[in-house]
Amino acid sequence: MSTKRAVGVGLLGYGNIGSELYRYLGRDASYARIRGVARRNVRAPAPRAVKKIVTDRARDVIADPEVQIVVDVTGDGERGARYCLDAIERGKHVVTANKNAIASYWREIMGAAQQRGVSVGFEATVGGGMPVVRAVQRHVACDETASFAGILNGTCNFILGRMKEFIVRSLDDPQIQKRALPLEEALKEAQRLGYAEPDPTYDLNGFDTKFKVAILANLAFETIVDPAQLHCEGIWQTDQHIMPSDFYFLHHPRYLNGKYELRLVGVANRVGGKPTLRVSPSLIDVSSDLRDLAVVSGSYNGLVITGKRLGTQFIKGLGAGPKPTVISLASDIREIATSILRCDGCSGPPPPAVSRASSTGDARSVHTRGFIRSFSPDVRGIYAKKLDVLAKHGVSVQSAVNVKEFVYGRDRSMPDYIEIDHAPDGAVRDVLAALRRLRGVRDPMYFRVLEL
Ligand SMILES: NC(=O)c1ccc[n+]([C@@H]2O[C@H](COP(=O)([O-])OP(=O)(O)OC[C@H]3O[C@@H](n4cnc5c(N)ncnc54)[C@H](OP(=O)(O)O)[C@@H]3O)[C@@H](O)[C@H]2O)c1
Repeated sequence: MSTKRAVGVGLLGYGNIGSELYRYLGRDASYARIRGVARRNVRAPAPRAVKKIVTDRARDVIADPEVQIVVDVTGDGERGARYCLDAIERGKHVVTANKNAIASYWREIMGAAQQRGVSVGFEATVGGGMPVVRAVQRHVACDETASFAGILNGTCNFILGRMKEFIVRSLDDPQIQKRALPLEEALKEAQRLGYAEPDPTYDLNGFDTKFKVAILANLAFETIVDPAQLHCEGIWQTDQHIMPSDFYFLHHPRYLNGKYELRLVGVANRVGGKPTLRVSPSLIDVSSDLRDLAVVSGSYNGLVITGKRLGTQFIKGLGAGPKPTVISLASDIREIATSILRCDGCSGPPPPAVSRASSTGDARSVHTRGFIRSFSPDVRGIYAKKLDVLAKHGVSVQSAVNVKEFVYGRDRSMPDYIEIDHAPDGAVRDVLAALRRLRGVRDPMYFRVLEL
């Protein structure tokens, strides 16, 4: 390839990712040259060369005749989608890290790209630097995907890892509750170290994982998933959050003795032929077929995919951060640029087909098992009431324990963990809703054991 010829790139967004991509392309990529940069605040500090080409009018960058590839790293779901569609309409290729835009406007973006004969590179939308989008695309080209499960959010992984560390290092300390690290503190630490955004809502409530699961499911099952319809529970949301006692219960030899690791997992499997999806904090059995996933820790991501013929594959890598994410963006840009430079009128890889109708299964009907945690004071009859709720919803109980080492509030509430047999997930969710209404019962939460 000639170093004199380079494809023109329009960069939308000059934040963590955009600024790192600018540096990378300027230094290491003869095939692409950034012609314009769009951001909201054009007065924000930036190198002089960037200041010369920066604008707050993304449209101008997209419309620039020198720009052949538009890169969206704005993080704005609505506007990002509009920018992509505008670029495609003008016959430009798109490369994006904007998972919200791609997941929420899949049909529109892929459909328009197909019509205009342009490429959409979105490797960076899932798993940072991990090549999961390509792996799933290659996989479905020749095999039928049966299921996948992914740890796809480094922020949650880091927080859960720190909370566990504090518990396991003081397991036999009678003051264990005081030694524990609450989620709020773990989050502050993650923010201090740059592992969490100033506004971490989408990470903690599972939405970030939900968008990624929707994108992977669209590829893996050749369908179109509406992320708004996907059942999603995070590690911290309005009505539930992970507590230090959960790690004590999971890791103390008196209770589950490290049999499971707790992670935020996005899961997809076929039920009655239809892909059925959910995101939730899940327990991964460290001695099961999914043990590879159980060791994915810190800011790493991991994905297990099972195929009809291929069996199980496991991919692990750095799931976020400017450097790994830029590798995914640059590899998409390179692939498209190389094709354009090879011949006049050549395009990059075609976008995924969108011909199939959207069709997903009902996650409420999937049978799951696990542990229901709730807090209540040690008063007569409270257990019986909880068990009654379970019985009314047809959910049967295997065992129940009270973790007395943790006591909260003036009414001295303690957590208990009720192990349930396989039951329709919808019935268990109804149990949780009923427990929330029960007087004297607080913070019910369901920890599903991960099964594919
Ligand atoms: N950070 C990661 O590790 C990571 C990993 C994988 C994927 N991603 C994805 O990459 C994208 C960018 O992430 P980031 O961490 O770089 O975000 P960021 O630091 O917040 O940067 C966003 C940039 O986009 C600009 N921007 C926002 N809305 C805009 C709009 N409507 N028009 C033009 N410019 C706009 C901002 O302008 P100002 O600078 O003027 O505010 C800023 O420069 C997101 O979609 C994110 O999900 C991030």
